[in-house]
Amino acid sequence: MRQAAVRAHTNIALIKYWGKRDEEYFLPMNSSLSLTLNELYTDTCVTFDETLEADLFYLNGKQQSEQETVKISRFLDLFRKEANLSVRARVESINHVPTAAGLASSASAFAALAGAANLATGLQLDDQTLSMFARQGSGSATRSIYGGFVEWNKGTSPTDSYAIPVDDADWDIGMVIVAVNRSAKKVSSRVGMKQTVETSPFYPSWVETAETDLQAIKEAIKERDFQTMGEIAEHSAMKMHGSMLGANPPIMYFEPNSIQAIQCVNRLREQGVLCYVTMDAGPNVKVLCRLSQAKQIKEELSKYFNEEQLLVTGPGEGIRELTKEEVTAYGWKRS
Ligand code: DP6
Repeated sequence: MRQAAVRAHTNIALIKYWGKRDEEYFLPMNSSLSLTLNELYTDTCVTFDETLEADLFYLNGKQQSEQETVKISRFLDLFRKEANLSVRARVESINHVPTAAGLASSASAFAALAGAANLATGLQLDDQTLSMFARQGSGSATRSIYGGFVEWNKGTSPTDSYAIPVDDADWDIGMVIVAVNRSAKKVSSRVGMKQTVETSPFYPSWVETAETDLQAIKEAIKERDFQTMGEIAEHSAMKMHGSMLGANPPIMYFEPNSIQAIQCVNRLREQGVLCYVTMDAGPNVKVLCRLSQAKQIKEELSKYFNEEQLLVTGPGEGIRELTKEEVTAYGWKRS
C-alpha cells in the first residue's frame, strides 16, 4: 500500500485559456497567465491498495458516482502507465472553498491529484512534467502546480505544453472574490470553449490578441506596474466573454449581480482605487487589487453582497505534500 497526500491551490487567469487545438491532449489555442490564490485549495490523498478491485473517489467525505470516478481513474491511468502499475487506488479529496461560494475548481483538484499520484507511485516526476500531467485532467490545472503568477506556454506538441512560474506575486497583490451565484455552471468551460472555437466569428481575434496581451502583461509584472497589469487582465476577460457572446448559440455567463459588481468596481476606480474585474465560465466576479486595499473594496461591495459572498485572498503557493499531522487530522492515516 502506497499513500501520499498533497495540497494544491486554485488559480484565476489574468490572460485566459479559452479553446483547445487538441482535445485529447488538452493543448490550448493560446498561452495563458494566472495568479494562484491562497484561500482556495484542495487537499487530496491517494492510496494505492492491492485489495481494491476498482478505484474509489471520495469528495468532502462523500463517495462519488461512477461518472465522476471514471474521470479520476482515467487520470490515474496516466501515472499507472508511466509507473507500470495496475493496482487500484482510493482517492480522498477535501475542497477548501468557503461554503456558499460555489468556487470549486478543477484546477486545484487535478493539480492536487497529480501531485499525490506522483508521490504515491514513486515516479518522482519534476514540476514541469507534473504540470503536463495535470494538464490532461483539466487545462487550468497545468498552472496550479506553481504559486504566484504562472504562465502556461501553449507549446507545439503534447510534450512541451506546460506551465512555468513567472513571479511570486509578493508585491501587494490580492483578489476579492464575489460569489454572485453558487449554483452549478449552466455551460461548462469544456463545452463553452468548444462551441466558441467552432462557431464564433470573433474567435480568431481572441487568439491573436491573447498572445500580444500575454507579452504585455508579463512586461507589466516584471516592472511591477499594477495599473497596466490590471487593465490588460480586465480587457482580456472581456474579450473572452465577447468571443463567447459571438458563439452560435451565444454563451452568456453574466448575471444581473455580475454587472452590479462590475459597476461597483468601476465606481471605486473613479474614486482612485486601482481594481480590475475578471470573470471565468460562470457569473462570479473576481476583483484584482492591491491586497492592502482589499478590505476597503470588500466594504464597498458589501453594500450589495452579503458576507458569505465575499472573500479576500492573497497569492498562494505551489503544490506541497501534506504533513503527517495534516494527514492524521483528516483521518486518512491507513498505511
Ligand atoms: C475560463 O481548465 O476548466 O477558467 O481544460 O476543459 O478542463 P478544461 O477547462 P478549464 O477551463 C478554464 C477556462 C477559464 C480560463 C482559465 O482558467 O484560463
